[in-house]
Amino acid sequence: MKNIINNIKGMRGRDLLSITDLNKQEILSIVNLAEYIKTLSKIGVKSFNYLVDKKVALIFQKHSTRTRASFSVALQELGTQSYYFSWNELQLARGESIRDTASVLNRYFDAAILRVYKHSDLEEFANYFDGPVINALSDLEHPCQILSDFFTIYEKFGKLEGIKISYIGDGNNNVAISLLLGSAILGTNITIISPKRYQPTSQILEKAQIIAKKSGSSIRVTEEIKNSMLDANIIYTDTFVSMGMESEKEIRLKELKDYQVNEKIFELNPNAYFMHCAPWHLGEEVTEGVVYGKNSIVFEQAENRLHTSKAILIALLK
Ligand code: CP
Ligand code: NVA
Repeated sequence: MKNIINNIKGMRGRDLLSITDLNKQEILSIVNLAEYIKTLSKIGVKSFNYLVDKKVALIFQKHSTRTRASFSVALQELGTQSYYFSWNELQLARGESIRDTASVLNRYFDAAILRVYKHSDLEEFANYFDGPVINALSDLEHPCQILSDFFTIYEKFGKLEGIKISYIGDGNNNVAISLLLGSAILGTNITIISPKRYQPTSQILEKAQIIAKKSGSSIRVTEEIKNSMLDANIIYTDTFVSMGMESEKEIRLKELKDYQVNEKIFELNPNAYFMHCAPWHLGEEVTEGVVYGKNSIVFEQAENRLHTSKAILIALLK
């Protein structure tokens, strides 16, 4: 463990707002640490008193199961406890500013984990909070999910460079964007398959392409489903209607319906693994047969959130 911890030393005290806050070596170090933590947990070693004197606040503006639960358990197993605050129960919901909230909590807490609607709110909070601020999902990115997903892929293939991911569905949501940027950093090849309106913005795409030049990652965006599925190692999807987009539900389900991951897709490529960050919406972006079928690794993915949450906390706080 000592060697692995040495590799993550440079991350101490930093924010994790975007997957691009980490470089390739740092992402790989978190993956390695998560792998080591998981190996130990399988033989019953789950607790490490690394964060005994740390206080960490969880502030959530949206619903959460995996992210909230994994960070809560991780904090307890790292020797401390979590302090959960629903955004709606804080004075924030009555108009107290993010600046004032962050400035006050800064005096009580060593780190803050936030799930927010607007990414700019997260940045505003981080401006007035000294310790690490961790993005537990914003409208723009979901870096903790994607770190964990890279760990899950690494477990299956023993590498990330050169692996081919086909992401199908809403290609411009938080999960898709972090997956795209993370793949660009790592040299993982990614194809985003979405109708035009749901493809990553040109700003995100340019950013990914600039990063990919260094890693050699291939980035493709297409509306075409069939060929994009043939050689993928991973077929990934996420909800068509992310939190905060409920008013667009009807139109999104209509415009994205041809991009559902169903059994026909796995007939094209029976060897690919199926991944979904969860929660899924059966009959919308994916069918029941795929989620619970032989290609699916969705529950391994969910389990790995816990090991990765621990790795992230150790990297940023120990
Ligand atoms: N995948 C994910 O972030 O799940 P929750 O919304 O349940 O935290
Ligand atoms: N894109 C989804 C992810 C949920 C974990 C959302 O933002 O609702």
